[in-house]
Amino acid sequence: MLSFTPLHPLFAARAEGFIDAGTINADVCSQIKAALRQYSVLIFPNQAIDDDEQIHFTRQFGPLEATKIGTEGTGTPLVILRNFDDKNRLVASDHRQNLNNRANQLWHTDSSFKPIPAKASILSAREIPLCGGDTHFVSMRAVYRSLPNVLKSRINDRYALHSYAASRDAIDPKLMTQQERMALPPVRQPMVLHDENGLNPSLYLGSHACAVEGLPEFEGQQLIQELMEFATQPEFIFTHAWTQYDLVMWDNRAVIHRATPYRQGDERRHMVRTTIAGSCPISEH
Ligand code: OGA
Ligand code: MN
Repeated sequence: MLSFTPLHPLFAARAEGFIDAGTINADVCSQIKAALRQYSVLIFPNQAIDDDEQIHFTRQFGPLEATKIGTEGTGTPLVILRNFDDKNRLVASDHRQNLNNRANQLWHTDSSFKPIPAKASILSAREIPLCGGDTHFVSMRAVYRSLPNVLKSRINDRYALHSYAASRDAIDPKLMTQQERMALPPVRQPMVLHDENGLNPSLYLGSHACAVEGLPEFEGQQLIQELMEFATQPEFIFTHAWTQYDLVMWDNRAVIHRATPYRQGDERRHMVRTTIAGSCPISEH
């Protein structure tokens, strides 16, 4: 029997009872979907799965995103986050893999830079460092509920521009190639999202958001900064300290997340992500 134990006053829960992500059935799948609607972040301990099992598990929830150009796993359904190469050697701190890992340490929501952003992500901890490398989450639904009315009125019915280049340039302007920039032009996304029933508004921002439509550049960036400072106050944050073989699923339209630092020159970290694709541009919900 599957049940969920809340882990934070506002969101996030841990699955209890036996679940085998390698051989999931329709009944378990619908219980997980309901729990994700309720908690936004779900932790499944003890899921020692391989890539094929992770892909199979993810498919039960909808079509998968294909990994974009410039990320390890490109062209497959896997996003590979690791600090070592195919020969098992740790890569240098200025290596692309480590720079991308550092970009993941900025608060973000996956794929908000795509015309049809991701619905949910599923991250499997294959190898974790002894120290650090936690993942932080913020409930953007709780944030929206708590926003002062003056801020709400500034963002309702507004759009922000999201660009992958914005988050990569913040780490290193040389990280993205010209070809990658061409492949990933900025997109517009509503600043407030609702669920499929038009309920549960959430603030939709993160490191890819670089401008607010209809506002001068500086004013838009200031508004984004003000909102992000409000959103990332400690009471909204849930920290997941990983155990090897944890599988974590989150709703990208209800939470933002970030990785936290670890000693990437000394310890190995290997995570594999699959991503459930969105079905239409969110502005058309
Ligand atoms: C991701 C991500 C954070 C982490 O997989 O999308 O941001 O802690 N991961 O690895
Ligand atoms: Mn991410």
